[in-house]
Amino acid sequence: MTETVLLVGGGGREHAIARAVADDCALYACASNRNPGIRRLAEGFESIDETDAEGIADYAADVGADLAVIGPESALAAGVADALDDAGVYAFGPRAEEARLETDKAYQREFMEEASIPGCPDYAVFDDVEAACEHIDAYDGDLAVKPAGLTGGKGVKVIGDQVTAEEAKAYLRDADYDRVVLEERLVGEEFTIQAFVANGDVRTTPAVQDHKRAYEGDEGPNTGGMGSYSDTGLSLPFMRDGDYEAAVDVLDAVVEALPDYKGVLYGQFMLTAEGPKVVEFNARFGDPEAMNTLPVLATPFIDVLTAARDGNDLPELSFSGEATVCKYAVPDGYPVDPDAGAKIAVDEESVGDALLYYASVDERDDGLYTTTSRSFAVVGRGDSIAAAERQAEDALSAAGDGLRIRHDVGKRDLVERRIAHMSELRE
Ligand code: AMP
Ligand code: GLY
Repeated sequence: MTETVLLVGGGGREHAIARAVADDCALYACASNRNPGIRRLAEGFESIDETDAEGIADYAADVGADLAVIGPESALAAGVADALDDAGVYAFGPRAEEARLETDKAYQREFMEEASIPGCPDYAVFDDVEAACEHIDAYDGDLAVKPAGLTGGKGVKVIGDQVTAEEAKAYLRDADYDRVVLEERLVGEEFTIQAFVANGDVRTTPAVQDHKRAYEGDEGPNTGGMGSYSDTGLSLPFMRDGDYEAAVDVLDAVVEALPDYKGVLYGQFMLTAEGPKVVEFNARFGDPEAMNTLPVLATPFIDVLTAARDGNDLPELSFSGEATVCKYAVPDGYPVDPDAGAKIAVDEESVGDALLYYASVDERDDGLYTTTSRSFAVVGRGDSIAAAERQAEDALSAAGDGLRIRHDVGKRDLVERRIAHMSELRE
């Protein structure tokens, strides 16, 4: 039987999801922007805001969806999974209560503490800005300052890295968030592990390293992620035996404490001298990390989705064994002052063997326009990170004017610097 699948969201991550299932189902999609990559793969594409839970549930009923995949966290926070589940359409994505693991960073840390999840840094939660500023003054060491709510990956300020203690206090006073988490600054190398979770099963995918800072050499403000790489196995070059497994133990512990969790569980880890610590959990695929993971997933993604829905064991996963490098092209000025509404050209012919994923662009009658977020990504694959990087870089000739790229992602220099950084910390 052909399944009818509804995909929610219109970014690069969702284009990757669309490509992973389109051949095996009847695909419908909805998003606030018109993503040309998803539109071409789908039998129907409707402009509906990702947070319009009722509108999405109605569209699912109209197209006769058997199941749904939810891409963005904004949809999870708005209760889209709840609305779909309640309408009888299985949503691969957690209900709003479980998505608090991502959408409420104070809850995330309190949950970790109460459920004794390993890898939790020291933290404190504040409702009062002045009390938070006093804590910064009194704390012996550097802190990461995190608004409790969603900020698209751009709200965190790390003292001693991006800002001074005085700047962090000024930021808190100026932003006046309702709740903030102040936590121990973790030092090391970051990596992501994404797991498919349902019916108590946890199936993990290769580790990925994202590059959050806007400019080459890890300079500039945090972004949603400028690019990412994965290696031929499950681990990354700066990791040692046992690091991947220690991070998976954390994800297993989360699911043991939240047995009804379903969807993707994304662990963002800092590999410290003492092993992996949790930077955060997300309740969905990473963007860009989905574009590293789904192209190398050899197990049909539709088999994961149907097993999840039918209450069966999730299939054991197999992967192609290729390394991947993903590089995003973003509007000039992103993330601080993105040039939205600019017309851009993407030359699909020049991508070659690399993969092209459209992201936050809007397709109109007369062409393609930028929005406030990342425009498109290319993914190279190969038998080494270096080979994948070359393929991605060659494909970037697809980018016309008005777009910016972090060319250093996946380059040998940067990968070697990560390895050296970790061995130095571990000495
Ligand atoms: P988040 O929005 O929680 O993903 O945080 C964005 C980025 O801030 C992370 O990817 C890290 O680079 C950094 N960050 C968050 N928490 C910490 C921490 N406790 N120590 C050091 N860096 C952190
Ligand atoms: N790449 C980071 C995220 O998806 O949150």
